Amino acid sequence: MDKQNGACALKGIVTNTDAALVVGASGGIGSAVLQCYLQDTRFAHVIAVSRGPCPGDFSRHHERLHWLRSDYSEASIASITHALAGKGIALRSIVISNGILHNGDLQPEKALEKVSGDAMATVFAANVIVPALWVSHLARLLQRSARCNIAVLSARVGSISDNRLGGWYSYRTAKAALNMFLQTAAIEYARRAPGVKLVAFHPGTTDTALSRPFQKGVAEGKLFAPAFVAQRFLCLLQGLEPDGKLSFLDWDGKTVPW
Ligand SMILES: NC(=O)c1ccc[n+]([C@@H]2O[C@H](COP(=O)([O-])OP(=O)(O)OC[C@H]3O[C@@H](n4cnc5c(N)ncnc54)[C@H](OP(=O)(O)O)[C@@H]3O)[C@@H](O)[C@H]2O)c1
Repeated sequence: MDKQNGACALKGIVTNTDAALVVGASGGIGSAVLQCYLQDTRFAHVIAVSRGPCPGDFSRHHERLHWLRSDYSEASIASITHALAGKGIALRSIVISNGILHNGDLQPEKALEKVSGDAMATVFAANVIVPALWVSHLARLLQRSARCNIAVLSARVGSISDNRLGGWYSYRTAKAALNMFLQTAAIEYARRAPGVKLVAFHPGTTDTALSRPFQKGVAEGKLFAPAFVAQRFLCLLQGLEPDGKLSFLDWDGKTVPW
């Protein structure tokens, strides 16, 4: 495994210890989840995966943190999960927080004429393909695992029955596809790794770079701090039993309709 994709940072890990993993650890919600994991001493190891470097001297202050760089290519994801398997780590809680709504080149579409194949492919790559590859490569790692939650950041706008406003074609479609991937994976996980519980999570509108251009219309009290969302989210996860099904839950613990 090369340095860019997480090799050396795994050296200190010893076998058979409980660990938490956050993928997309530099994001607003991902980094808040990481902070919660680091405060939770049940995890002997906290593994963070990101495209970017570990911020500042973060790892010096957190000895349990293992920060791995990834370009999210299939080879990188395979390489990291393979290395984790080799270390005999017992993953207990996994949060995958990747997703984009906009960037310098693309904006959520307000009309059909704005739909572009290139933009849609970019949105699908971050919101569907990257999380799907993680869930897929983690399966081999988790089959012997006693209990583990895998939570993937979805969004209410991916709900087909809840869609009354329209617009945001690529992002909505990507989150609906992500949900279908996770539902399909939950069926296979139930057979191969019955201790694993899969969750698609809607965080509510959270104050991060992703939502920032779209926060104007948010009702008072409905724009959440990432730290609040991360705490609610991890608290909710702790209360869930593996039942072989995908749960689509919001920040308040309520089921979101498909
Ligand atoms: N904020 C909200 O109001 C809101 C509402 C509903 C759903 N969500 C969902 O919550 C998740 C986290 O979003 P956020 O609000 O924390 O946004 P954010 O601060 O913009 O974080 C974006 C996340 O996506 C990853 N990412 C960015 N570009 C990527 C790319 N090209 N390929 C793969 N991964 C990429 C980043 O990982 P790195 O660490 O590698 O940079 C980071 O984890 C997303 O799935 C989003 O759809 C957010």
